[in-house]
Amino acid sequence: MNGGTPMLGWTIPDTHGLDGLQLVTLPEPIAGVGEVVLHLHLAALNPADRYLAEGLYPAKPRFPHVLGRDGVGTVVAVEESVTGWKPGDRAIVLRGDTGVNRPGTLAERVAVDAGALAPVPSGWSEAEAAGAPLVALTAHQAIHQWGPLAPSVILVSGASGGVGVATVQLASALDHTVVALSRSAAKAERLLDLGATRVFDPQRESWPRELKSFLSPRRVDLVVDTIGGALFPALVDTLGFGGRVSAVGMLAGPVPAFNTASLFFRRIRIGGVAVGTDSRAAQARAWGDVVRLLAQSGRRPVVDSTFPLEEVPEAFARLAEGPMGKVLVRMPAAG
Ligand SMILES: NC(=O)c1ccc[n+]([C@@H]2O[C@H](COP(=O)([O-])OP(=O)(O)OC[C@H]3O[C@@H](n4cnc5c(N)ncnc54)[C@H](OP(=O)(O)O)[C@@H]3O)[C@@H](O)[C@H]2O)c1
Repeated sequence: MNGGTPMLGWTIPDTHGLDGLQLVTLPEPIAGVGEVVLHLHLAALNPADRYLAEGLYPAKPRFPHVLGRDGVGTVVAVEESVTGWKPGDRAIVLRGDTGVNRPGTLAERVAVDAGALAPVPSGWSEAEAAGAPLVALTAHQAIHQWGPLAPSVILVSGASGGVGVATVQLASALDHTVVALSRSAAKAERLLDLGATRVFDPQRESWPRELKSFLSPRRVDLVVDTIGGALFPALVDTLGFGGRVSAVGMLAGPVPAFNTASLFFRRIRIGGVAVGTDSRAAQARAWGDVVRLLAQSGRRPVVDSTFPLEEVPEAFARLAEGPMGKVLVRMPAAG
């Protein structure tokens, strides 16, 4: 499989940022107990890769470290205690320690805990499957962490991003009314196609009023927020009595000023989302749900763009610009 050629991968030497990224030759990974080696075809980027590179993520990898949490590829080696996987099987990587505390998927091959693998869902292309697990599992937790949800109004910020698109798709497949926020008119059109009922531009001062009159007399029941920053208090203001916020990310940074009194009278609850905290069993159930819901609704994960392995810095620049779906990286041998 390796044809004697050295394996290529991107490493960071420390936590001084993505400027430290280097394309280097790496030792072949070896499958430890309970692990397989995956020959990757595609990997996917996540903002958490940048956070880790900047020392803003609670991880303690050994440096130089290979980033990358998602990917799809072919199993090429299986440690003897592993059951259920054999060389030649195609697999995707569900959220685990890959790319966090151990080498990740921005390399031609990676050793992965076999328990973190899943087959490519039936009918999905490899590109659709490559970047779906982390964001879809996050969206699933953000929607379900409050228990059973009657048909609700769900407001999704950063809706065009990886987590946002997955949330729009899953929430609309569950028959919730989905309202999305995007700063881009072109991406707003795509979000309507993906299941959003309405899209508002959070840069317009009037968006909260427009949303209120669109929903009246209802209010938002659940906010799934990936943005934080100055937008956060306005998101909380959209909620009705007993409203909830699933706090997923903070792409716009910390919330500069927040008045906790805005929570009292409507008994609003804010809950953090952490996709890495689900048990393997809970994750497998959630992934099964994701695949079933997307199949029922006839939807597929959305790919923004695909870059060759040599252009990983350009791929991270595209991610920082604000993609529409997932940014992928194609391995050389994948053609
Ligand atoms: N808690 C968890 O377990 C968990 C799991 C996964 C991700 N996350 C976090 O969730 C966040 C979103 O991740 P993602 O993968 O969806 O990101 P992404 O793919 O980069 O997309 C985020 C979207 O948000 C919008 N956006 C970006 N920067 C913005 C800004 N400064 N102000 C307003 N809007 C902005 C853009 O949409 P428009 O251009 O359309 O406005 C962009 O397409 C990140 O912080 C990530 O680390 C957390």
